[in-house]
Amino acid sequence: MYKVKDAYFKRAKKEGYLARSVYKLKEIDQRYRLFKKGNRVLDLGASPGSWLQYIAQVVGPKGRVLGLDLNPIRWENPPAFVQFWERDVLKWDVNEAKKVADAFDVVVSDMAPATTGIKDVDTFRSIKLANRALEIALALLRLQGHFVCKVLEGGEMKDFLLKCKQQFSFVKVFKPQSSRRESREVFVVALKKK
Ligand SMILES: C[S@@+](CC[C@H](N)C(=O)[O-])C[C@H]1O[C@@H](n2cnc3c(N)ncnc32)[C@H](O)[C@@H]1O
Repeated sequence: MYKVKDAYFKRAKKEGYLARSVYKLKEIDQRYRLFKKGNRVLDLGASPGSWLQYIAQVVGPKGRVLGLDLNPIRWENPPAFVQFWERDVLKWDVNEAKKVADAFDVVVSDMAPATTGIKDVDTFRSIKLANRALEIALALLRLQGHFVCKVLEGGEMKDFLLKCKQQFSFVKVFKPQSSRRESREVFVVALKKK
């Protein structure tokens, strides 16, 4: 068992972030320089909202940030350039994104299914979400845009990586230090859409 209130949890609370997950995205961004000021960013699986908070800080008010999740976010007064819609990403009509931007510079997905503890079921559901995130990224990213997606190691991850490699110039699997060691989660970082 992991300590529920670990150092990252406490740090997130102290720094005003809605979840410890923020440090995973920060590490990915520090390593791969995903975001630039003024970027248009789509965040899939955005609740409670810590990735949205970080992305908003980095892209600033000239950017556009859209978050989607089954559940509401806990960020009470996000600035006007940050929008959130309650949606099931598996059933979402991507054309709705055009209300925010014609194309996006970065698509990130931290989506995770409710875990059952049954390894095969959890892996299957996770890869289903990842494949859907990839489909959305391919529909909405501009040329040379970036995609980051959480997946559980195992199962069909190899196929997922292959698909990413066909569509992006640079693909790496990254395990942030802030990701719990006992968790099978990793992040596929796919840069520069072909
Ligand atoms: C680990 S949390 C995301 C944390 C978020 N990145 C943050 O920093 O606050 C995973 C999220 O994926 C969402 N999710 C799972 N399946 C989804 C689906 N089909 N459509 C939309 N969101 C989904 C869950 O509701 C959950 O809020």
